[in-house]
Amino acid sequence: MAGQVHYAVEGAIARLTLDQQDKLNAMSFEMWTAVSALVQRAEADRAVRLIVVTGAGGKAFCAGADISQFGDNRTGEEAVLAYDRAVNDASFALAHASKPTIAAIDGICFGGGMGLAMSCDLRLASAVSRFRIPAARLGIGYGYDNVRMLTQRLGFGPTAELLFSARIVGAEEARGLGVLQHVWPAQTYAADLAAYLQTMAENAPLSLIAAKQALVELEKPESEQNRAKAQAAIAACYHSRDYVEGQAAFKEKRTPQFKGE
Ligand code: COA
Repeated sequence: MAGQVHYAVEGAIARLTLDQQDKLNAMSFEMWTAVSALVQRAEADRAVRLIVVTGAGGKAFCAGADISQFGDNRTGEEAVLAYDRAVNDASFALAHASKPTIAAIDGICFGGGMGLAMSCDLRLASAVSRFRIPAARLGIGYGYDNVRMLTQRLGFGPTAELLFSARIVGAEEARGLGVLQHVWPAQTYAADLAAYLQTMAENAPLSLIAAKQALVELEKPESEQNRAKAQAAIAACYHSRDYVEGQAAFKEKRTPQFKGE
């Protein structure tokens, strides 16, 4: 099989690791297909509070779609449709997951890798990471849904500039463009990332789910937004034991112990 996506749960964090290291974790058709199923697995696991996507090998998050498969898997109308469906399913699963999704990026994040990262709610990176949407250099028409997602997350100007120039952007600049929420020095990246994720994983799970639900609905066109669904997730927080625990912990000046119920 060309590449794999490994799945592991450590504490409250499910980790999807993109692994095709001899191709800088470029995404094969099989890897695209695996992502949505693994996100669903993480969503179904009550112990999981955060879903993190990362790359194996320490050089790359992901160098995009596996170009070596395009001749067999992405040529001809039917094959292109099937390929794009697999890519869109992966992207949709990360963007719409009921729990927060986070791309942890250390190294190359190009093309489809950038698409995967942008589908996540947050992107956290080491300072040596590099970003690029090279579609215009490959003669690829960048997908409509992807362009929409980029304009929603970055705005019109940065999206147009990244697509038109197809240039490589460093981590600090990517943070300035809104691509990244945090950048940490390469030397401390692993520790800083772990500490940040731990803090988030200790927060109230139902509050995370409510926030995610509202974010998902608000990204839809207004006529399609399911406000009632988002409101129900918000209301569930007020009926939870964790709400009582949050207040008790504040009063007692201690760290709250949330259970997601
Ligand atoms: N698909 C398939 N193979 C890829 C790949 C991709 N998207 N990206 C990198 N690889 C392979 C290279 O072909 C090379 O294989 P080889 O050792 O058999 O020649 C290996 O990964 C290492 O890449 P290399 O180019 O030698 O590393 P580098 O450090 O010099 O450059 C990049 C890194 C990311 C700048 C360069 O590999 C690149 O531009 N890749 C393509 C990125 C891209 O356009 N992605 C969008 C795809 S839609």
